[in-house]
Amino acid sequence: MKIIGGSSSDALAAKVARELGMKSSKLEIRKFPDGEKYLRVLEDVKGEDVVVIQSISHSPDEFLFEYLLLVDTLKDLGAKRVTGFVPYFAYARQDERFKPGEALSFRTVSKLIEDVGTDEIYTIDMHQHRVLKSSDVFKIPSRNLSAMPLLADYVEKTGNLQKPLVIGPDAEAEQWAKLAAERLHTDYDVFEKKRLSSENVEIRPRKANAKDRDVLIVDDIISTGGTIVEALKILFSQGAKKIDVACTHPLLMGGALAKIYETGAQNVIGTDTVPSPVSYVSVAPLIVEQIKKDGFR
Ligand code: R5P
Repeated sequence: MKIIGGSSSDALAAKVARELGMKSSKLEIRKFPDGEKYLRVLEDVKGEDVVVIQSISHSPDEFLFEYLLLVDTLKDLGAKRVTGFVPYFAYARQDERFKPGEALSFRTVSKLIEDVGTDEIYTIDMHQHRVLKSSDVFKIPSRNLSAMPLLADYVEKTGNLQKPLVIGPDAEAEQWAKLAAERLHTDYDVFEKKRLSSENVEIRPRKANAKDRDVLIVDDIISTGGTIVEALKILFSQGAKKIDVACTHPLLMGGALAKIYETGAQNVIGTDTVPSPVSYVSVAPLIVEQIKKDGFR
């Protein structure tokens, strides 16, 4: 078996390989003067099971294209089976035509990933809202893993929060709030969110009240931080004592992290699906567990 990380996830791939007692395979990746990408696989992959790890984050088009070049090349070089781990799967939020004529980006990206020869695909807390299962989008075997139990374990280990109320800032965050609350043996609720623009949201509470409670807000993605800031404001106005925030994919665009701390969050905790200053939790054990279960050779 070979483990190969594209340039957005090379450190994560190295960690996964280390936990499996091996070294990740090397690639040569650079750009031609006109911006075109050059990619070369530096090891013999003929007849091998190859695990490719590549998040499609921050420069999504660039990292997606790199993934496509890599998998197509591996298959062309004779790799027996190529399994894609795409820890952060961009474009999943554009799963519907909200305005006439819009691209169904989620579907297009999924098709490209299949067309280059990915044999099976794993994602981690992929944004699943209107699309509820990976199999609604992919024709190849697919599985969406969750980092929420790992994040909850980390929160518990820090000991900052006492029996926290877990809050998901919108309806689709219920899946993550439930997982985190189960792990922390506590209760959860979700808010109602209306998106006004790509940076502005309106949030309303439902049943739970945070008065005199420690709170953990959980979400899949923090991008501009707008969602978390609005949730923090509501929870503090209800009388929450301390609030920590956990997310799987800390994209943290612009001043998101500063905005969240300024609004009063004590800790922001993310994973290394997207490398960031708050990527305290590694998803490597999740990937390793899956590789062991699937019996790669
Ligand atoms: C969308 O509903 C996601 O689950 C996140 O809540 C959203 O992407 C966060 O975006 P932002 O940080 O820009 O509010």
